[in-house]
Amino acid sequence: MKETALGKRKAAGTVLGCFVLFFQIHKRSIRSNGVNRLLTLQQISYDSEDAKEILHDISLEFQDEFVAITGPNGGGKSTLAKIIAGILKPTAGRIFWDGKDITEMSITDRARMGMSYAFQQPVQFKGLRVRDLLKLAAGKDSTFRDACDVLSEVGLCARDYIDRDLDGSLSGGERKRIEIAMVLARKTRVSVFDEPEAGIDLWSFQNLTRVFEKLQKQLNGCILVISHQERILEIADKILYLKDGHVERYGSRAEILPSLLQSAEHGTCQVMKEKMEGA
Ligand SMILES: Nc1ncnc2c1ncn2[C@@H]1O[C@H](COP(=O)(O)OP(=O)(O)OP(=O)(O)O)[C@@H](O)[C@H]1O
Ligand SMILES: [Mg+2]
Repeated sequence: MKETALGKRKAAGTVLGCFVLFFQIHKRSIRSNGVNRLLTLQQISYDSEDAKEILHDISLEFQDEFVAITGPNGGGKSTLAKIIAGILKPTAGRIFWDGKDITEMSITDRARMGMSYAFQQPVQFKGLRVRDLLKLAAGKDSTFRDACDVLSEVGLCARDYIDRDLDGSLSGGERKRIEIAMVLARKTRVSVFDEPEAGIDLWSFQNLTRVFEKLQKQLNGCILVISHQERILEIADKILYLKDGHVERYGSRAEILPSLLQSAEHGTCQVMKEKMEGA
């Protein structure tokens, strides 16, 4: 489908609006007090505007755990993450947070309840500086020390970045790292990261896996990380494998990872299969 310039501008505006709203709310970290609260997806389906079925009948439960979501490109991972965050509304099905139906709840209200989302492709904010975003994420003025704590987690020095504009002058990897830092700063009950490794250099990626491990230990919450990286799958409590908009496999790392590493996905196309296998 051909996108018009107006359509693109509208979409960009919506994404920007959603993202700013996320950080306009005050940080409200909801602790579980020992109760194992759940995020429940009940028979979620999603069709695109041109009636293409993208997600079909997905039922899942997430507890206070680290779940790696993986699967082939186009399998529906980002779509599912956007439905959880409230950026997209499911065509069918319900979502519950601690038993409360949040299906109709706005992105802002979900963020207020304690949900954060880091986009696969971070958006740019002309006129907004890193220090402004930090303030929005933390819900208060950040000291230089606070900024240093947060940015150093993703390998950035606050001195070099705090006054930078969040526009195209930052490299893709820098914007990605800053966005991850913002989600880390919010310390929310549910944190969703869409391919945090994308565009990140090797050193930063190794550091990032340590950051996730630390987050998992410190945070009494649910961390959903969409990733294609084995290293991320290796530190997850559970692995969800999405393919063609369906849940193919979901279970503990020990149950899922070995079979995942053995199987190569080439779909049903014979030509592609031969090419991928070097035939
Ligand atoms: N608005 C839309 N209109 C039509 N098709 C769409 C739309 N949004 C997503 N899709 C399609 O839905 C499928 C799932 O997309 P999604 O971005 O969720 O995949 P993904 O699993 O995140 O893939 P990747 O690993 O490449 O990031 C893809 O085939 C994509 O082209
Ligand atoms: Mg994606």
